[in-house]
Amino acid sequence: MSESRVPSDSPENGPFQVQVAQRVTRLPPYLFGRINKMIYDKRVAGDDVIELGMGNPSDPPQEVVIEKLVEAARNPGNHRYSKSNGIANLRREVGAKYFKKYGVRLDPESEVITCLGSKEGFSHMCLALMGPGDTAIVPAPYFPVHVYAVALASGNVISLDVTDSDKFLSDIAYTCETLYPKPKLLILCYPHNPSSVVVEQSFFDEVVKLAKRYNLMVISDFAYADVAFDGYQPPSFLASEGAKEVGVEFTTMSKGYNMAGWRVGFCSGNAEMINALATIKGYYDYGMFQAIQISAIVALRETEAAVEEQSRVYQGRRDALCDGLVRMGWEDARPKAGMFVWQPVPEPWRSRMSTMDFAMMLLTKGNVAVSPGSGFGPAGEGFLRMSLVENEERLRQAVRQIKACLKDAEAEYAGKASVGAAG
Ligand SMILES: Cc1ncc(COP(=O)(O)O)c(C=O)c1O
Repeated sequence: MSESRVPSDSPENGPFQVQVAQRVTRLPPYLFGRINKMIYDKRVAGDDVIELGMGNPSDPPQEVVIEKLVEAARNPGNHRYSKSNGIANLRREVGAKYFKKYGVRLDPESEVITCLGSKEGFSHMCLALMGPGDTAIVPAPYFPVHVYAVALASGNVISLDVTDSDKFLSDIAYTCETLYPKPKLLILCYPHNPSSVVVEQSFFDEVVKLAKRYNLMVISDFAYADVAFDGYQPPSFLASEGAKEVGVEFTTMSKGYNMAGWRVGFCSGNAEMINALATIKGYYDYGMFQAIQISAIVALRETEAAVEEQSRVYQGRRDALCDGLVRMGWEDARPKAGMFVWQPVPEPWRSRMSTMDFAMMLLTKGNVAVSPGSGFGPAGEGFLRMSLVENEERLRQAVRQIKACLKDAEAEYAGKASVGAAG
């Protein structure tokens, strides 16, 4: 037999190497990874960690929606590949909700597409719009996906302070005037995650003017459309005149409908942008499980009252948490909408340690998990994001544990300081 010409796996060839693409290797380390690992380790060790980190809803969807899912799953016709842009009746239902709630008319054929959760749709929309040399403006502090979906699409990001809305608008205009090449895309998110900043419709009216003046496409991430308090109604970007000419809006059933794991999101608005997303999705996926789409129709049609009730539940949790923190002397950071309290770290802790170290201390010594603001970029330093997914009793318990933890830490700190002074 002749000798094989295939090179051997002798040591001079070196060990096999997986060569991951630069778009993956240039992503920064996942900041929440350390905290998630610690929560896991603590739970394995039997600790009861109160989880105020992720905005992962803990309440179930309505029974009628679950029943519809079971019924639809029993129908053999629902197990084939579905349409990648979503079944027509679901897209029509999304259009009907937009008209009823915001007075926005949408053509369900060309102006609505379903996504496997809004995060998938948002990321693929960035891939459809952005490429090397293109720049997107994102709000800072940022929801990580807003930055990394652009980066994964090989685009560049300019992040602008979102906390003062008038300044944010003038910064957008200034960036468009001065940057060359001009930014191509503006990413917005109101009610904002993580800062909980909200706006009125007039803000979006100004955005549309800017978008037209500078030929800037707009993506509005409206994930918290259904979660608002004290009578506040978050406005839809699409309700501003001319919005459909310049942009799209993502909505989701994850938050208000408690269907986060079901992965049901929508993109509505500009037909050309939606067509570009549909093209990408046509290559990448076969659409959502049809039984889920059918149950989502029922949820949109029949459970509006439950969505409003869910907001009241979050409002009660917000008050339980914020009242407790205020009693401890912390700033009142009560949000008007969304699922998070964006809480300034109080002094003297803010000057003493980084937000990451403060969050780690609350977790290791207080058994309370929060998200350090620095996980949302440098603009988040000095803040904690506390989610409202635990019930009111657990939130009050979290405040007690934070208080006890800081009392012990203060004593330890004072002890170290006096040893230092003596030494
Ligand atoms: C601002 C924002 N956008 C999008 C998402 C993702 O939503 P979905 O479950 O629809 O992918 C989240 C979830 O936390 C979010 O906070």
